[in-house]
Amino acid sequence: MGAIYLGIPKSLAIFIRQKFNVSSFVETGTYYADTALWASGLFDEVHTIELSNTLYKTVVEKYGNVPNIKFFNGSSQIVLNDLFRGGLPISLFWLDAHYSGDETSGDELSCPLIDASTFAHTTHIRSSARTLKNQ
Ligand SMILES: C[S@@+](CC[C@H](N)C(=O)[O-])C[C@H]1O[C@@H](n2cnc3c(N)ncnc32)[C@H](O)[C@@H]1O
Repeated sequence: MGAIYLGIPKSLAIFIRQKFNVSSFVETGTYYADTALWASGLFDEVHTIELSNTLYKTVVEKYGNVPNIKFFNGSSQIVLNDLFRGGLPISLFWLDAHYSGDETSGDELSCPLIDASTFAHTTHIRSSARTLKNQ
């Protein structure tokens, strides 16, 4: 049946970080920033995107002083695109944005993952391939 995790599979993330020297972590769906905070101890830079303005303000107030976490407020589809355009190092993507009831946002878009993964495939992989080609 495969492995089922309720959160990020940490041992796999640690393996990817070490094996491929991936220095950057990108997360969609910050929620209460538990994963972003954990990732900040492992990766050089963490980018995390949250649609809910209330959740965003809560986590920035609490963890805005963590130097290697950049918090973004907006929809993952738009902010990911901006991040790609700005230039990201090779990154591990944790695409976890979805409506989860209660105070979370996104109930009008049932699967933001579709757009996010489309961008990840088309834009980032293409630009990474170009970077490699130019070396
Ligand atoms: C399951 S929680 C994320 C948990 C978090 N990644 C963690 O590992 O602790 C999903 C979050 O995605 C947010 N969300 C929903 N749609 C979104 C979108 N289109 N862009 C960014 N965040 C979104 C929700 O408000 C919610 O906080």
